Amino acid sequence: MTKKNQGLNILGIETSCDETAVAIVNIQENYKGKILSNKILSQNKEHSPYGGVVPEIASRSHVEHLDDLIHQALKDAELSFDNFDGIAVTSGPGLIGGLIVGMATAKGLSLATNVPLIGVNHLEGHALTPLLTNDTSFPYILLLVSGGHCQLIIVEALGKYSKIGTTLDDAVGEAFDKAAKFMGLGYPGGPELEKLALRGNPYAFDLPRPLIDQDNCNFSFSGLKTAFIRLTRSIEPVDKKTSADLAASYQQAIIDCLINRLSKSIEIVKELRPDLKIKNLVASGGVAANKKLAEQMQEFSKEKNMEFISPPIEFCTDNAVMIAWAGGLRLSAGMRDPLSINAKARWPLEEVNIN
Ligand code: KG4
Ligand code: ZN
Repeated sequence: MTKKNQGLNILGIETSCDETAVAIVNIQENYKGKILSNKILSQNKEHSPYGGVVPEIASRSHVEHLDDLIHQALKDAELSFDNFDGIAVTSGPGLIGGLIVGMATAKGLSLATNVPLIGVNHLEGHALTPLLTNDTSFPYILLLVSGGHCQLIIVEALGKYSKIGTTLDDAVGEAFDKAAKFMGLGYPGGPELEKLALRGNPYAFDLPRPLIDQDNCNFSFSGLKTAFIRLTRSIEPVDKKTSADLAASYQQAIIDCLINRLSKSIEIVKELRPDLKIKNLVASGGVAANKKLAEQMQEFSKEKNMEFISPPIEFCTDNAVMIAWAGGLRLSAGMRDPLSINAKARWPLEEVNIN
């Protein structure tokens, strides 16, 4: 038996979309944690020919790789199951087949080893990440921008989340991916479109900024995507310079929408919750890897006298560290789940609030 280190050792498992991920995090008091292993296997190559995630392929790939990643993580951390305090697994929201793979594995391990099981909401993982990876503390406004989500959330404390804005149609990552697919760029489209946009003029084409200046914090990208496709079709054939201008203009329109909605959220929070005095703005999710967005959010935060925080890219995109971390914090607060919990394709973050 390996000697147990101090604090809580948590195994995290994430299989909600197209990354098979396993991590081990050691959690100490006062929101301090140490990453002992972080394994991620991206399925991008498998989904790339289809221009999007194929759920059946994703589930099968999780089945093929999850056990091996768990073994690798245990080896990295030099721990055996005698040393664990919790097994945290993403229980939703996400693709149901993938979630079931992760949960069946986590439940089997928990049953065999008697280590407590904690079902984690994937969004809570993203929401709590900056506490581990950055020198920050509650409360903050979180702009969660990924392939599946586009939300503005007030993160007040563990289990105290209020969604103040969401997309009415596509998630922002989807808006990047769909436009990139239309332009014949690779998958995932966000990073490809960003690369192309580097050489373009962001104000070459006039595209709409849906919902801008509306008195709420919601987003909408479907009309912008349609306008982009219509505009591109109207100028075909598109030469290299024009396609860079198109990509840059589209990216700028998206960023303007995100920052405008963020700005509105600050006003709304000040009005509704003056007691909170929020000073920190956090961006997370895969789209937070976009350098132009980060630059412009940084500038915007400065203007507002607030601090902009974005976790390192590998912790903005899907990973199991955030699941181990969120699960460990819940376990520290006395929570655990029975083996009867189920995977949930849909699971709003506010449903995990602690009263
Ligand atoms: O968080 P994530 O890894 O997975 C989930 O969707 O949950 O986010 C993936 C999304 C994809 O839509 C991808 O195109 C987008 O994040 N993305 C980007 C960039 N890097 C990833 N979008 C814009 N610019 C980027 N640099
Ligand atoms: Zn995610």
